[in-house]
Amino acid sequence: MDEKSLYSSPYDDKEYMWLLDNIASHFQLDLRGYKQHRVRRRIDMIMRKYTYNSYKKYFEDLKNNPKLWDEFLDKLTINVTEFFRNPEKWNYLKKNILPKVLKERGTKTKIWSAGCSTGEEPYTHAIILEELKAPKNIKVLATDLDRFVIQKAKKGIYSDRSMVNVPEDIRKKYFKKLDNNTYEVLPLIKSRVIFKQHNLLMDKFEKDIDIISCRNVVIYFDMDAKNKLYKNFANSLRKGGVLFVGSTERIFNYKSLGLEVIEPFFYQKVSD
Ligand SMILES: C[S@@+](CC[C@H](N)C(=O)[O-])C[C@H]1O[C@@H](n2cnc3c(N)ncnc32)[C@H](O)[C@@H]1O
Repeated sequence: MDEKSLYSSPYDDKEYMWLLDNIASHFQLDLRGYKQHRVRRRIDMIMRKYTYNSYKKYFEDLKNNPKLWDEFLDKLTINVTEFFRNPEKWNYLKKNILPKVLKERGTKTKIWSAGCSTGEEPYTHAIILEELKAPKNIKVLATDLDRFVIQKAKKGIYSDRSMVNVPEDIRKKYFKKLDNNTYEVLPLIKSRVIFKQHNLLMDKFEKDIDIISCRNVVIYFDMDAKNKLYKNFANSLRKGGVLFVGSTERIFNYKSLGLEVIEPFFYQKVSD
């Protein structure tokens, strides 16, 4: 089914493409490889709410009004995240994957949180590393294309909403309470994470990674973008390395990429 039959917009098609180009160049958020019926339907909803009738006018306001930009990201559910998202999966990683990796690779261990949003996911990796008493020089690379989320991630300050799955003992050990519903990640956790801006659809990938988490990032990617991404991840893993995906995500052609499923949502690289 083509994109047009999935959603028909009341607004101008050419201007819509213009909007995506300009969002890409101004905000470094490239939505052009995403499923357009989903992206456009959501953008149009905001346009209707504020009774815009031109994407150009909406873009002018997006540039000048940070609240409007926050709403844009929020409505596209682009940044929604939390610590220990799907806790049972993180338990699996902590019990069954990470100890083996640390034993085999020691201080060479490389972890990458790809599409890290506001930092909850890479800080979850860092907390688990700390819990497993991993050497301090093992760091988590955390990347996202959105520079605003990276700014927020570096601050490490979170509301209750992000913290629902954080067990009480972990909260006490690794967070400082700032007020009733605000918490800050402690410096020993912050110092384990290196944040960088990186576009998964355009930029180069590092090599010899032991664990890549890329969760809830590909929801808007079209088939081609997803296939390319998973191929690049497979190339980026060392043999034995593991790709951890979101709990609604599947890699259908995993075998042809040299991957095996070791547990739902965990793919291990078994051959080059
Ligand atoms: C819904 S959040 C997921 C955060 C976290 N991984 C989780 O599962 O909770 C998706 C993130 O992917 C990022 N993202 C989307 N497309 C991307 C791309 N092409 N390159 C890098 N990051 C991307 C968004 O900016 C957003 O912060």
